[in-house]
Amino acid sequence: MSMSPIPKTAPFAEEEIDLLNRVVGTASPVQRAWLVGFLAGLDASGAAAVPHPAAPARPAEPLTIVYASESGNSEKLAGDLAKAARKNGLKPTVIDMADLETPELASAKRLVVIAATWGEGEPPARAVRAYNELMGEGAPRLDGVEFGVLALGDTAYSEFCAVGRKVDERLAALGGKRIVDRVDCDLDFAEPARRWIGDAVKVLTPPNAGGRVIEVDFGARSATLPSTDIFAAEIIEHVDLNSSRSEKETIHLALSFEGGAPAYEPGDSLDLYAENDPAYVDELLKIAGLAGDEKLRAEFIKSRDVMTLSLKTVETYAASTGHQYVKALLADGQAKEWVAGRQLIDLIATFPIVLDAEKLRALTRPLAPRAYSIASSRREVGDEAHLLISAVRYDSHSRARKGVASNYVAERLRRGGRVRVKLRPNKHFTLPATDKDIIMVGPGTGVAPFRAFVQERRATQARGRSWLFFGDCTFTHDFLYQLDWQEALKDGALTRMDVAFSRDTPEKVYVQHRLWDRRADVIEWLEGGAHFYVCGDAKAMAKDVRATLVCAYADVKALSAEAAEQAVTTLEREKRYLQDTY
Ligand SMILES: Cc1cc2nc3c(=O)[nH]c(=O)nc-3n(C[C@H](O)[C@H](O)[C@H](O)COP(=O)(O)OP(=O)(O)OC[C@H]3O[C@@H](n4cnc5c(N)ncnc54)[C@H](O)[C@@H]3O)c2cc1C
Ligand SMILES: Cc1cc2nc3c(=O)[nH]c(=O)nc-3n(C[C@H](O)[C@H](O)[C@H](O)COP(=O)(O)O)c2cc1C
Repeated sequence: MSMSPIPKTAPFAEEEIDLLNRVVGTASPVQRAWLVGFLAGLDASGAAAVPHPAAPARPAEPLTIVYASESGNSEKLAGDLAKAARKNGLKPTVIDMADLETPELASAKRLVVIAATWGEGEPPARAVRAYNELMGEGAPRLDGVEFGVLALGDTAYSEFCAVGRKVDERLAALGGKRIVDRVDCDLDFAEPARRWIGDAVKVLTPPNAGGRVIEVDFGARSATLPSTDIFAAEIIEHVDLNSSRSEKETIHLALSFEGGAPAYEPGDSLDLYAENDPAYVDELLKIAGLAGDEKLRAEFIKSRDVMTLSLKTVETYAASTGHQYVKALLADGQAKEWVAGRQLIDLIATFPIVLDAEKLRALTRPLAPRAYSIASSRREVGDEAHLLISAVRYDSHSRARKGVASNYVAERLRRGGRVRVKLRPNKHFTLPATDKDIIMVGPGTGVAPFRAFVQERRATQARGRSWLFFGDCTFTHDFLYQLDWQEALKDGALTRMDVAFSRDTPEKVYVQHRLWDRRADVIEWLEGGAHFYVCGDAKAMAKDVRATLVCAYADVKALSAEAAEQAVTTLEREKRYLQDTY
């Protein structure tokens, strides 16, 4: 006879409880007695690598973990926290802010929010609705809710960790009791986040939750630590898709993987590990008076972020050098403004002072990889992965600037060379069932994942229709993957395509204008269950496209502005309006 001696309230995951019940439930009295003795002996001897707390006498204490994530970092950390909490006798519930019913926060006893900041100080796209509700007048009172916030961000942005900061302030203003201080993490968040989670679990675990608090080695296999699955892929194609007369340079990079491509799906990205421009590093070292330090040069080229200038960098510079003018810049409150559009090299060139290698190094942070949407489907290209990378070049403060990774690819990588990449899955930007229609809006490099979508639909002989909106500067010079689209239209993998080339007409025309022109059909497709995808520029395009869709609903269906907004919110909540924007 099988029994379920382990209660659902035990401090284990549901699947672990099932597993334990399968073993313990069918064990004989002798086997159970042996197990009891064995586990007791293990704890007493301290031999267990990861000691498990005794099952609590009362139901496990709940912990609500909400994450606001775009590229998955906060989501992974929420999972890490849940795992650690569970091992400490808590019963965690992990909620994507996209699915959060804000009134329910009021009944949370303990709450942790892990929130990333996107755009220019904005919440991740999926989290916008719930974030606005939380910030709005209708937010629930949180009296008695114990909370802690972990903020993810990037010091390169002036609104560093703004969302985490605002959520932290808001939870307190709504009556919550902050029992763990917020930590604001930069791009190299793995270690500080790991420490914060360890501390938070200790504080959040009530004394009766499961006996003593234990150290949990969740970090050992955590996805947030440097992963071993970095591939040195071979570059088998390196082609500029813009014409030589274009102002742009957009590289189609085909990578080949010996021993098999990482198991990517349409919608996933690759993290690309770039190197800095040696010429820039040489100039920086020269200005800093450290030309000739070959060790530092090699390290800077390979693994340090030698470009980013943040308020934090200025503070470090002032503290380590005591430079009077830099101190004054900070004291006057002008440093934040001064930093905008400038880089580390500007700081040292403008406020020169004797520096040694250690001081200069302390002004840099680890060089982070850059994400690129995968522009291919494994079903069509086998063990390859294709990327579409636009070289970032601009002038600011009278200096020509170049983006690190995109110019590494455009200027220094060539066919036959190798590049290090790591898979960055995105389960929030996936194709629906093959019989569903899809509408894809992807101007510029935003079109990359849609090449993967179209290839996948061809390979799976999808019956659903596919409609692509693409835009760029000019038809003649900037029509990325033009031949692919023509072929797809011919073989039916793509049902329909609308293009907007902003510089070909006296009035600038963008994808959102084409969307408006076609609004009747767009709404008809959506009413029939189509999924709507947006990829590319987050600053303007994604917002304009969403606003256009709201207007389209209002116009085509004769809805009020509120009802039209609700229609798009419903699409978002049904996961039929999906974004991957940057
Ligand atoms: C999920 C995801 C998918 C992505 N997919 C793609 C893709 O498919 N293709 C693609 O090309 N990119 C893609 N990106 C963007 C990509 O990751 C990089 O951000 C981009 O290539 C720039 O990196 P970089 O190292 O060349 O530039 P960086 O060295 O990181 O410099 C970029 C920074 O320069 C500054 N800057 C840039 N332009 C200007 C300007 N005109 N004026 C003032 N300052 C400016 C900004 O501060 C900007 O953050 C994606 C990003 C994400 C998050
Ligand atoms: C396009 C873009 C915009 C960003 N904007 C900000 C910002 O305004 N402030 C900030 O602190 N971090 C910003 N970040 C950094 C992210 O918050 C950081 O990468 C974080 O780890 C992402 O977490 P997630 O994967 O959970 O979304 C931005 C990142 C990208 C790619």
